[in-house]
Amino acid sequence: MIPVLICALVSLSVADLDVLDPELVNSRTIYVTENGPRLAVVAEQPKVLARRGGNVTLQCRIQRDQSLAPNRKMRIKWTKLTFDYLKEVDVFVAMDYHKRSYGSFHGRVHLQGSSAMDASLVMTDLTLEDYGKYKCEVIDGLEDGTAVVTLDLEGVVFPYFPRLGRYNLNFYDAERACRDQDAIVASFEQLYEAWREGMDWCNAGWLSDGTVQYPINTPREPCGGRNTVPGVRNYGLRDKDKNHYDVFCFTSNFKGRFYYLIHPSKLTYDEAVRACQKDGAQIAKVGQMFTAWKLLGYDRCDPGWLADGSVRYPVSRPRRRCSPTEAAVRFSGFPDKKHRLYGVYCYKGQN
Ligand SMILES: *[C@@H]1O[C@H](CO)[C@@H](O)[C@H](O)[C@H]1NC(C)=O
Repeated sequence: MIPVLICALVSLSVADLDVLDPELVNSRTIYVTENGPRLAVVAEQPKVLARRGGNVTLQCRIQRDQSLAPNRKMRIKWTKLTFDYLKEVDVFVAMDYHKRSYGSFHGRVHLQGSSAMDASLVMTDLTLEDYGKYKCEVIDGLEDGTAVVTLDLEGVVFPYFPRLGRYNLNFYDAERACRDQDAIVASFEQLYEAWREGMDWCNAGWLSDGTVQYPINTPREPCGGRNTVPGVRNYGLRDKDKNHYDVFCFTSNFKGRFYYLIHPSKLTYDEAVRACQKDGAQIAKVGQMFTAWKLLGYDRCDPGWLADGSVRYPVSRPRRRCSPTEAAVRFSGFPDKKHRLYGVYCYKGQN
């Protein structure tokens, strides 16, 4: 490899200066090799699957040319990319012995540090919000390399609308509605995956990127037309304040216990809330029922109250008089809360 001379350090931003060796900043010439960078950053596992509450390691390995002088001031920086790549959120920075984690990542992230060339990040106690793309960046003097790792969460996507009825949520209401169901607004990738697994839903809902879409596997007249190909139908970006739709929520594993309360009689909504409390639990949320159904195979043919005032039941083994054609969470609507016609599903968190 023939070193070529590159003249002058021209456009260093102020932000770059603090990471550079002062000797380099003062010099006017630097050497780079003709055959490309002398530092590479590699994500051997560009996509990892984890679950809420679990731990994960985002792999990132540094490959450094022997010709580079050892550098104690090598900086490792992890950021999270937003869906549109326009913004990066700080996660973790390490330089020398200095280490810093940011925001919701504080206390939950550290370097794996199996060797000096290991920039992998260990993340513990994963939350739904941790889902997304992370960038590992290594800055070594004037050399700089990056790799991106996608953290995918095992979970379930479900369409949601509140007691108010269909098409009542602006984007911010939608975020609240999902949170209230122990979930977050689903990403396009999550909805797309759900569509590939067979999801078919003819009402448009918000996604986390501010678009409104819906998944169709069986094309039909009211849902974009009979003679169309199956797919995720896209209304595009909508006004987050003024436009109103349903929402697609995403949730992942929980640590507690979801169950149908064995009770001698049917209950009104208020009685249902109290019955769970008396059992040392809470009335369950919609997201918890979907999680139990999808990830734990929970199956129960009894319609029961949930916290939002809806009545549903989870069927994972389709059978006669109980969701005969498909495994699904059946929805009986938002009945009058005074009706004493249903049971109740409870959720008991750990501790
Ligand atoms: C995650 O890591 C923490 C800290 O290292 C540990 O205490 C915990 O048991 C781990 N959790 C799981 C689910 O492996």
